[in-house]
Amino acid sequence: MTEKERFNRERDRLNQMVMKYANKETKRFFSLDHQIYETGALDEKTKEFAGLVASLVLRCDDCIFYHLIRCQETGASSEEIMEILNIGLMVGGSIVIPHLRRAVARWDELQISSTPFEIQLQQAREIAASDSSVSEATQEICLYLRQHNPLFDWVGFYWINPKNPRELILGAYAGEPTEHVTIPVGKGICGQAAERKETFVIQDVRLEDNYLSCNPAVLSEIVIPIFKEGVIFGELDIDSHTESPFTMRHREFLEEIAKIVETRL
Ligand code: SME
Repeated sequence: MTEKERFNRERDRLNQMVMKYANKETKRFFSLDHQIYETGALDEKTKEFAGLVASLVLRCDDCIFYHLIRCQETGASSEEIMEILNIGLMVGGSIVIPHLRRAVARWDELQISSTPFEIQLQQAREIAASDSSVSEATQEICLYLRQHNPLFDWVGFYWINPKNPRELILGAYAGEPTEHVTIPVGKGICGQAAERKETFVIQDVRLEDNYLSCNPAVLSEIVIPIFKEGVIFGELDIDSHTESPFTMRHREFLEEIAKIVETRL
């Protein structure tokens, strides 16, 4: 079990204990604590940054870890986290340094810890076997993969245009919207993977000539082709804001995910 899972479990257990005894006022406070972080004039990520900086200044390690997890879930980058922690450091002064050290170490753990691949594959099989439509199932898989793999900042599917086999069309995705809703076969990493019908693992997109940038924060990308009856049908595309994040195990895992999706086509 990862630190994050241990932390979330313990937090849930204690929350349930509190709710067992809570009166109306306690429940109101807890529900308010949840509501104020929802999107309003400020988006969720900005609110989590505010929660993080307040937690650092008040030197609450549990609160810091909670907000770091939420910052990650709402898409914060390491650069943003360091800038926010610096504000806490400036306001709180050197007394917050031990908490800042632990915060950075926990953030680092969050970057590499993910749900074991076996569990994720099992979940993907269940999603694929459900009665939902292909677009619902692929949407669910995108959200699941993004949420369970901290290194995956954008997860999406591109499909071969049924009216034009030389074009890919964006399907379900999780992450920031992209301007590349259609991609000619042969163009960019996605287009090349579709043309060559093979997995492309790009550990540093800055070294690529034939690359289509969706977002300057993206540093690496992996694209896995998806086949139907032996013919290229689409692909799974993953972008990461980390350089060289993909191991052989990632590749095997994602090729297995692609095979699971193929069972639904
Ligand atoms: N970077 C891709 C374009 C698609 S986005 O990553 C979502 C490429 O070079 O093909």
